[in-house]
Amino acid sequence: MARGGKTKAEDDSVSFASLIEKIEIMRSALRWTETLDRRQIEKLLGQVSTVREQAMKLSHTNRFVNASLADKGRKKSSVAQRRRELLERNFQFDGVFGDSPRLIEALEVAERVAPTFLPVLVYGESGTGKELIAKVLHANGDRSEEPLVTVNCGAIPDNLLESELFGHKKGAFTGATHDRAGRFEAANGGTIFLDEIGELPLTGQVKLLRVLQSNEIQRVGSDTAIKVDARVVAATNRNLLEMCKEGTFREDLYYRLSIIEIAIPPLRERRDEIPLLIEFFADEAAEQLDLPPLNLSRRLQSFLNRYDYPGNIRELRNLVFRLACLAESTADLQHLPEYIRPQGHHADDNGTAAADMNLVEVKRLASDNAERRFLENALADEGGNVTALAKRIDMNRAHVQTLLKKHGLKSKDFKPAKS
Ligand SMILES: Nc1ncnc2c1ncn2[C@@H]1O[C@H](COP(=O)(O)OP(=O)(O)OP(=O)(O)O)[C@@H](O)[C@H]1O
Ligand SMILES: [Mg+2]
Repeated sequence: MARGGKTKAEDDSVSFASLIEKIEIMRSALRWTETLDRRQIEKLLGQVSTVREQAMKLSHTNRFVNASLADKGRKKSSVAQRRRELLERNFQFDGVFGDSPRLIEALEVAERVAPTFLPVLVYGESGTGKELIAKVLHANGDRSEEPLVTVNCGAIPDNLLESELFGHKKGAFTGATHDRAGRFEAANGGTIFLDEIGELPLTGQVKLLRVLQSNEIQRVGSDTAIKVDARVVAATNRNLLEMCKEGTFREDLYYRLSIIEIAIPPLRERRDEIPLLIEFFADEAAEQLDLPPLNLSRRLQSFLNRYDYPGNIRELRNLVFRLACLAESTADLQHLPEYIRPQGHHADDNGTAAADMNLVEVKRLASDNAERRFLENALADEGGNVTALAKRIDMNRAHVQTLLKKHGLKSKDFKPAKS
């Protein structure tokens, strides 16, 4: 694996950074020059050739990396297999669920960059799992024992931002009663996650760029530079390139941050995953709320499969927890929150839910309830012994286990207490 690829990655980053710097130098030289003599032209030509050479080298490296990724893709037959291979390689992605090719691709890129120090920019709408990816990057790097410090750039008032990120010296401003370390120092040796980087005001952007260039910070009100070694992961749901064009985001900072980009698609672009995710979150809800497994009416299931989820996975997860909590046995449209509930289905229908169902659903509900009661009684009779229960009702043991799971029945709860 490319785990030992730090040296190559360092080379990439150095040449990338120096490319931009050289272009900047040429730009400012040209900006202030009215006329050029031959000597100056030759000098500029020399610089341009160097930049061109480096750009070609970089593009070669990129092509090499992309080709090896594509090659991997060809060899791997299915998403499930790629997922299994990630697990086999000991890649940690606990809590990340889903089997869309684009998600697996994002994880595969994360796997390759996690062990390097390269900055990563995670793109995605609200609730798509950007923070989760930041955690995955941190967990799989060689800094995982060190802190992961999160800064929500959108949540800090402009005038406090610099002190929050870089710390301050006592007396630097009214209210600065002590020397204080900032988040960058707190993340030293580890990772700093700059969430909502698009909200960082221009003044903050300049300062952040300086840190990325020099790996040094200065506390507000202090002249002393402090070395910091924090791996930067940034996230945004905004189009930073557009913002660069509008002049609200610095282009040089954008290029520094986006050496590696990981884009997470919105849920509505990977609908195939919705039923799986519902199942996953329903299990989680049953476990955490100590409830039997969630049943969904057919029309609710079909609503959930078609809904657009502007809040993405977070919204879906919250919905499933709500349904698990509110529904007595089968969740239906009236258990949805009002802002998305189709008209004519009221939350206070709870007690008379059956009136709102079609005949098939009523029958299934009654049958489910009967099945659950039967299993409870029989399992109690057999003292929680599933094998005995299977024999008694003449059913395959594995199938009995599935039924017990469906109703949230645990055999150990039916075992006689040990004396
Ligand atoms: N692939 C996934 N599998 C399981 N849970 C997920 C997945 N993606 C996101 N989640 C869950 O959805 C919620 C939102 O994820 P997260 O906070 O990472 O999103 P975000 O993109 O940072 O959102 P925001 O832009 O609103 O900050 C969390 O509870 C997270 O655990
Ligand atoms: Mg977030």
